[in-house]
Amino acid sequence: MDQNTKKQRVAEAVLDYIDNGESLGIGSGSTVNILIENLSKVKNKIRNVVSSSVKSTELLEANGFEVSELRDVGKLTKYIDGADEVNKHLQMVKGGGGALTREKILAHNSNQFICIVDDSKKVDMLGKFPLPIEVIPLSRSSVSLELIKHGGRPVLRENFVSDNGNLILDIHNLQIMEPIKLEQTINNIPGVVTNGIFALDHANVLLCASDNGIDKTDLNA
Ligand code: 5RP
Repeated sequence: MDQNTKKQRVAEAVLDYIDNGESLGIGSGSTVNILIENLSKVKNKIRNVVSSSVKSTELLEANGFEVSELRDVGKLTKYIDGADEVNKHLQMVKGGGGALTREKILAHNSNQFICIVDDSKKVDMLGKFPLPIEVIPLSRSSVSLELIKHGGRPVLRENFVSDNGNLILDIHNLQIMEPIKLEQTINNIPGVVTNGIFALDHANVLLCASDNGIDKTDLNA
């Protein structure tokens, strides 16, 4: 089964996890785009929907949803998003699409984070996928120098400005052995808006599509 078919399957499978009266946070990326295309099937269950990117907002509106602001909704009942890498603790690297900051804000303000991936995203150790870091433009070089000290090779994402008007550095060659520690350390570098390690706000449930179907990991089960 190819990767796109797996994304399709997992994006449809997560619809079964949407309960009545949800205030739903919606992530970004190609897997989530498929979810949004299918979301109107459960529209009657959704009280509010909050989006993590301009792209997802546009797609939600095109599919008949009125998108709310987080400040008007408060706590989200569920946040659904993809990932670039996920380990067995459901810690992730995210931000391949550059929407990491708003994604982390929604993940942090949600009662439950359901991560939807295909099995190519499962890893033993995070870091093979270059770690995205959103930075204030002024700090592009100074943050890069700090990351070099951690053994990383920063590469500026070409021709890309985030929804927040910032730049993205993609850090190659990192071996993320202590995800929580590195997430905190990078966030403490002046000029960093967010980094793509989602260890403090890890997922609670993972739905992973493989050739054998959908594997579910629920950390609270
Ligand atoms: C966007 C993200 C996405 O969740 C991540 O890049 C996975 O995307 P896809 O579903 O296209 O593989 O973090 O910022």
